[in-house]
Amino acid sequence: MPATDMSQLVSLCQRRGFIFQSAEIYGGMKGLYDFGPLGVELKNNIKASWWRSMVHERDDVEGLDSAIIGPAVTFKQSGHADTFNDPLTECKKCKARMRTDKMADPTVCESCGSKELMAPRAFNMMFKMQYGPTEDSSSVAYLRPETAQHIFMNFKNVLDTTNRRPPFGIAQIGKAYRNEIIARNFIFRVREFEQMELEFFVVPGEDEKWHEYWLEERLKWWESIGVPRSKIKINDVPKADLAHYSKRTFDLEYEYPHGHDEVEGIANRTDYDLGNHSKNQSELNLTAKVHPNTASNTKLTAQTLEGKHYVPFVIEPSAGVERCMLAVMNEAYHEEPLPAKEGQAPDAQSETRIVLKLKPFLAPIKAAVIPLARNKPELMALATQTKATLQKLGLGRILLETSGNVGKAYRKHDEVGTPLCVTVDFQSLEDGTVTIRHRDTMQQERLSLAELPAYLQGFYRVGG
Ligand code: GAP
Repeated sequence: MPATDMSQLVSLCQRRGFIFQSAEIYGGMKGLYDFGPLGVELKNNIKASWWRSMVHERDDVEGLDSAIIGPAVTFKQSGHADTFNDPLTECKKCKARMRTDKMADPTVCESCGSKELMAPRAFNMMFKMQYGPTEDSSSVAYLRPETAQHIFMNFKNVLDTTNRRPPFGIAQIGKAYRNEIIARNFIFRVREFEQMELEFFVVPGEDEKWHEYWLEERLKWWESIGVPRSKIKINDVPKADLAHYSKRTFDLEYEYPHGHDEVEGIANRTDYDLGNHSKNQSELNLTAKVHPNTASNTKLTAQTLEGKHYVPFVIEPSAGVERCMLAVMNEAYHEEPLPAKEGQAPDAQSETRIVLKLKPFLAPIKAAVIPLARNKPELMALATQTKATLQKLGLGRILLETSGNVGKAYRKHDEVGTPLCVTVDFQSLEDGTVTIRHRDTMQQERLSLAELPAYLQGFYRVGG
């Protein structure tokens, strides 16, 4: 059973060092989180899985890692300066600020119940900044609200240096920033987050076919990381709710503890962005409405085999890393009754166990090596050497676990999703064997140290 309440995930994340409130020692900043020792591993494994499936395993996608800051003109042309707004209201009594489109009753303050609310106004969500030492209008820049615009600005660079022709894509994983009116639901809605975005450039007219293709591809990926289709609702976004650049968008809405909510958007952005960033737009025969007068010095076009220039359409699957992490953890979260003989004699707390049944390739720790006694130098030496040998396999993090007794170590590694524990005991010193303990089944088996590396390699090859 996944978590029934967000507080179960929040508590696990704080207790075990996945996620911390940012600037906590100064009271914290709402909507900002830091990822601890286990959180950073899980996040990296999620991103690596996305990159593998979207770049390495394909022959039609290139990668990019661009700047996070962009000049004001970028976001004027992209439409974000004018339209990336949420409706903001403020309570005259308690000064609480709210997003009217998310309020159950937009006439009543969610904080104090007062009906004295200001008329809603458009609030632009971009973080504005002064770039460089001069303070004038030419130095205004923004933290990017999506990674996409820098992909569009690099379209021609990638095209020219890789000899690509549509259909092909450019993928990027990186930070994005939005000054959300209300940050809520833990890491679901935050002001600094990471996006995993693909801009897939296609020949106009083939866009609808590719849109359907990417919807299916993305559902397959979600399934591969442990988020089943049955938990994802596909919202064919109504015309009135589409983003300013979109002809059609499929939102994938995962069943979070707080309800179904967007984990990924798959949009048909038409020729809107490349068209807007191109010079001499009037010559380009664009289908999308454009912001004229760009200062761009480049035409962002591709060529047909006959040498005719055209602006490709774009299909964009875009997922948030934090929302993905929350969905993955929620699916993996289980509370189970614990058999009495596991580890030590059961006490009141250990009658149930929390276990994070993550896919092995996503687990923050691939194996924990546990010496049965810390005060025996020979045991510690053998455990340390075993850890070093396994670490060299390149599977990910192997941890030498030296806290608590073996029963507590098993509980801890169940909670953080470690698929295998390797226990080094007195018998190991005599006959060179160790115990392997499996997270999901709690089954144990005895194996020789010589066999251990091949065993782990086989386990992670099969398990992903
Ligand atoms: N380039 C397209 C784009 O940015 P979006 O639907 O606004 O589209 C894409 O965002 C994804 O980014 C969302 O599906 C979500 O996973 C993530 N995301 C957006 N705003 C977020 C926020 N405030 N906090 C966390 N993740 C967010």
